Amino acid sequence: MKALVYTGPGTVEVLERPKPRIQDPTDAVIRVLHASICGTDLHILKGDVPSAKPGLVLGHEGVGIVEDLGSAVHSLEIGDRVLISCMTSCGACRYCQKGIPSHCQTGGWVLGNHADGTQAEYVRVPHATLSLHLLPTSIPSRAAVAVSDAFPTGLECGVLSADVQPGGSVVIIGAGPVGMATLLTARLYTPSLIVMVDIDDARLATARDLGAHATVNSSSPDARQQLMTLSGGLGFDSVIEVVGISATFALCQELVAIGGRIANVGVHGTKVDLHLERLWDRNISIHMSLVNATTTPRLLRLVESGVLDIGSLVTHHFSCNEASKAYETFQAASQHQALKVAIDF
Ligand SMILES: NC(=O)c1ccc[n+]([C@@H]2O[C@H](COP(=O)([O-])OP(=O)(O)OC[C@H]3O[C@@H](n4cnc5c(N)ncnc54)[C@H](O)[C@@H]3O)[C@@H](O)[C@H]2O)c1
Ligand SMILES: [Zn+2]
Ligand SMILES: [Zn+2]
Repeated sequence: MKALVYTGPGTVEVLERPKPRIQDPTDAVIRVLHASICGTDLHILKGDVPSAKPGLVLGHEGVGIVEDLGSAVHSLEIGDRVLISCMTSCGACRYCQKGIPSHCQTGGWVLGNHADGTQAEYVRVPHATLSLHLLPTSIPSRAAVAVSDAFPTGLECGVLSADVQPGGSVVIIGAGPVGMATLLTARLYTPSLIVMVDIDDARLATARDLGAHATVNSSSPDARQQLMTLSGGLGFDSVIEVVGISATFALCQELVAIGGRIANVGVHGTKVDLHLERLWDRNISIHMSLVNATTTPRLLRLVESGVLDIGSLVTHHFSCNEASKAYETFQAASQHQALKVAIDF
């Protein structure tokens, strides 16, 4: 089969690989229809993820058809069209039982990290019962890849962690695919104000199209003043960081209202300051999490019923042979006005 392989710092190559087979009775083998590229795949290319070694097939997001099933998987049938979750979970270990399957002792972020991933014609998915979701016929395959990771991350690590409430005020810093998914799922909770912040005006325009009440370009010198004015001088009840750099977490700490919540979604690679000297008496809380993807069934029901429109996240798609073009486009996303880039197999 053809697979997109991480072959060393900065390089992805389309290589021939043996088709994966069932190894454990809890496995499934999926024939991939579409797989999307995530910012995390770019971190692998930069060498930031030590567990992902050269020779690995990339990808933890995708949609496909069940090709083969282990003897212990009873929830699916060969031929089913399924969403592949970014998280693999056994359902039985200490952390799965604690409700944080992202830390599953025999799972978690496995695909495209500890094991070959979804950016290939076929992928072996461990713990298939909890790691695959049957896709309703009304949900198109290519758009659905955004529900592998971006939507559950936006909802769980962003909206739910920041306790978005009806009538509350929300600021989302970072208007990438995960920030947009945070915006779309925040709207489900009917806050009275959602402000999106980014440094890319095209992404901010998209955010307004997707329902942000206001946007602020944080590179403008009076950005903080604009944001405080939008919040009526009080700050925001829910402050969501979806970038992953020190400057944006600092901004979160300036924007949180008394009694508010900060939810950190971004992956931080360097030291970040926490200003307890300013925050200790503000009755706030700060939440940080790795996505569990336990909201995926709920998200699929929302899409199926027409309440949640996921169609805007995948903006570009390429054939498997155009893999390097797909990665180049995603790496220069702002130049191409790209959000999520999918590869069709
Ligand atoms: N916690 C989790 O489980 C989890 C899961 C998936 C992704 N993530 C993380 O979420 C973050 C967002 O993911 P994404 O795919 O949307 O990334 P992305 O890189 O596409 O988007 C980040 C956005 O931040 C903007 N930005 C950069 N610097 C900024 C600044 N100084 N001020 C304001 N905006 C700025 C960029 O223009 C971009 O639009 C990443 O850090 C990713 O690793 C976390
Ligand atoms: Zn991802
Ligand atoms: Zn587990």
